Amino acid sequence: MDRRTGRQETYETFEQVLQRRVARRKFLMSSIGALPALAAAGSLLKPSEAKAAPVDGLNFAPISLMKNDQVTVPAGYRSQVLISWGDPVLPGAPAFNNATITPEIQRQQFGFNCDFLGYFPFSHLPVSQQDGGGRNSRWGLLTVNHEYTDPRLMFPGYDPDFPTFNEVNTEIAAHGLSVVLVYRMYDEWRYWSGSRYNRRIHGETEMAITGPAAGDPLMKVSYDPSGTAVRGMLNNCGGGKTPWGTLLTCEENFNQYFGNASSLTADSPTAASHARYGLPSGESRRKWERFHDRFDLSKDPNEPFRFGYVVEIDPYDPSYKPKKRTALGRMKHEAAVTTIAPSGQAVVYMGDDQRFDYIYKFVSQGSFNRSNRSQNMELLDAGTLYAAKFNDDGSGEWIALVAGQGMLAEWTPAEVAIKTREAADLVGATAMDRPEDVEVNPTTGKIYAAMTNNTRRTAEQVDAANPRASNRFGHIIEITETNNNHAGDSFQWEIFMLCGDPANVEAGTYFAGFDPSAVSPISNPDNLLFDSAGNLWIATDGQPRTVDGNDGIYACPTFGPDRGFVRQFLSGVIGSEIASLEMTPDDETLFAAIQHPGEGSTILEPSSGWPDFNLNPPRPGVVATIKTGRGGRYIGS
Ligand code: FEO
Ligand code: CA
Ligand code: CA
Repeated sequence: MDRRTGRQETYETFEQVLQRRVARRKFLMSSIGALPALAAAGSLLKPSEAKAAPVDGLNFAPISLMKNDQVTVPAGYRSQVLISWGDPVLPGAPAFNNATITPEIQRQQFGFNCDFLGYFPFSHLPVSQQDGGGRNSRWGLLTVNHEYTDPRLMFPGYDPDFPTFNEVNTEIAAHGLSVVLVYRMYDEWRYWSGSRYNRRIHGETEMAITGPAAGDPLMKVSYDPSGTAVRGMLNNCGGGKTPWGTLLTCEENFNQYFGNASSLTADSPTAASHARYGLPSGESRRKWERFHDRFDLSKDPNEPFRFGYVVEIDPYDPSYKPKKRTALGRMKHEAAVTTIAPSGQAVVYMGDDQRFDYIYKFVSQGSFNRSNRSQNMELLDAGTLYAAKFNDDGSGEWIALVAGQGMLAEWTPAEVAIKTREAADLVGATAMDRPEDVEVNPTTGKIYAAMTNNTRRTAEQVDAANPRASNRFGHIIEITETNNNHAGDSFQWEIFMLCGDPANVEAGTYFAGFDPSAVSPISNPDNLLFDSAGNLWIATDGQPRTVDGNDGIYACPTFGPDRGFVRQFLSGVIGSEIASLEMTPDDETLFAAIQHPGEGSTILEPSSGWPDFNLNPPRPGVVATIKTGRGGRYIGS
């Protein structure tokens, strides 16, 4: 039996899984024994050339995989840089100059490696009345995560063996989040430098710990004996927006900031837990612990227990103290998409982005109050956490992680919140191929989860929900809650897309039954977004290593005759991933986070010049794309 999957039965090949999936959907009446047969069957099923007009509204001329150093979009569209690393955010902030940057300057400027983007329509209502439900698509607050720093592309002369105090503290200041007021003037998007709504949250910003873990002994450290206050948030990658107009920003690979796990007693529960979360045994790669005791496990072994959470922030209130919502569990959090169940309970879907980790959801104890925003502001502090188990017959279970029950009989609620991975290990959740983003389709209620890749899955570890050994290309799973009840404990699921280059028959692609010869090559699906028509927009992370092109953005219908017809819309620049994508409520603007341009190179010999080319080193930034050509203004038209 595999420790992580708990599976004992014989494993299927992914061809067999595809065969069964397709048969179950009644796409095929006869058996399919091999992938070429599937591809051929797909083209019989879906003669896309016969389409007179798209019924999904997606009418752009798809672009091809590219390797150039410009953001590229289809003809009739225009993409522009909105804001980049080092641009002034707070009033009085200096302009970008990485030769003279200091922590104090960086705390006033746009941070590094932008990730999750949240567009919050701007409203002139008092903060207490804003509900995030407005549709202002001309003015808004754009929240931008700053996941991590790459000092080799930040500081001239950076020595990885001997980082300086100034460099380390500048990096801490370049993490976190920016809130910037953005507005559209005709066809141009700009940000308002120095707006009183603008905010920088970073690795030293004071925040509160709330929920079941608050005050627990495991949360107590030398600088906070109460276990309720923490300095900063780190590695904020994915995220989501709540129906009450707040941001959920997710701490992902927090393990990399801590050093010296080997100083802990080897068989202690703390050492075991830190090992399950991948904390390095010796010196950390970043070496922050040389300058700050809290990153040194020999001095403050509990500090990592205070990272790895979903942080809630009210972007409309610049004085809001961020809150780490421990009820949503501790993991390498990726995505936190909130929907409201028929009961009124808030449901947050989440992924833990690591090979062989799990998909989760949180169901709040209380109910969403549509007419009184303040009633929702602590909704995420109490509720039940579930981990997903995908059965091979297409059914699935949400297994509740409840302290005092079943395998968790000896656990406390705080332990479930802090050692969530270990709790999910015990109950037999399904180990997935790096669960990244999760989104709920606004038109159908179905849930889509992106598995970026997992090249370490062996043929023996293959299961129906992770049907490929050495999964280089990633896949997307479609989940349908029983009776569309997002608060329930059972679901059905399908493989929606097995990514890869359809021309690469060996890779065994699958596009919800759509003719593979008509779609764009796509690999490593990472971040997802729905437009209001229910089309799925997909951003990728890893294409240069798999389909030999820059990462990009794709659009794909999820229902109707074009279900599975994926087309490339945007191509990023050299070395970058598209770390996030977001739209205005009118679906006219697509924002995209261009993260780590020039990754793998150094400031002296950068592989990318984007966006300033000869003037500056490559700078991670946000681009805005609108349609300028004929036809409707909808971004996909
Ligand atoms: Fe930071 Fe899972 O991407
Ligand atoms: Ca998303
Ligand atoms: Ca990501």
